Amino acid sequence: MTGALPDGVAIDGSLEGVDWDRLTADLAADDFDNGRVPGALRRSFEQSQHVAVARHGDRVVGTARLLSDGVCNAYLLDVWTSSDRRRRGIGSAMVRYLADQVPGQHIGLQADEARSFYERLGFRPQPEFLSLVVGEWLDNDGNR
Ligand SMILES: CC(C)(COP(=O)(O)OP(=O)(O)OC[C@H]1O[C@@H](n2cnc3c(N)ncnc32)[C@H](O)[C@@H]1OP(=O)(O)O)[C@@H](O)C(=O)NCCC(=O)NCCS
Repeated sequence: MTGALPDGVAIDGSLEGVDWDRLTADLAADDFDNGRVPGALRRSFEQSQHVAVARHGDRVVGTARLLSDGVCNAYLLDVWTSSDRRRRGIGSAMVRYLADQVPGQHIGLQADEARSFYERLGFRPQPEFLSLVVGEWLDNDGNR
């Protein structure tokens, strides 16, 4: 658990009690839904090495997760703060919480938006980023 943020929001590294249907709906309402069904969203987080969940009571108001090999490389994903709680430090606190779990490692991410959010946290552009979707996006057993 991190120190409490303003407005009674707290961050922890547990997925206990997360309502995945509600979280999927909240992400869609914020236009931050990339097509995962609730069970697939849950698997994405469960199979990540580190997660950060911002909670206000029983409601999830922020998420972030980190894939890591535990040695040198990590990848940051699903960084989201509920739109009604933005600009109060929640996103930064989640990213710092995850970064603290991987000392000595290189963290990569893809930022279509919010580049200055990451730059304030110390991230710097590192061209060239190459990517490939194997087959069709989300056409796999994990999203069924
Ligand atoms: C990006 C996001 C996670 C930031 O969450 P947040 O809880 O509002 O972040 P913070 O309050 O810690 O912001 C810290 C600083 O980052 C900067 N910042 C925050 N959101 C930003 C954005 N969308 N674009 C650019 N800079 C941003 C601001 O300088 C902010 O400080 P300020 O409020 O004093 O000006 C949130 O806006 C979000 O969920 N956006 C939609 C999903 C998304 O784009 N995620 C990133 C995918 S790569």
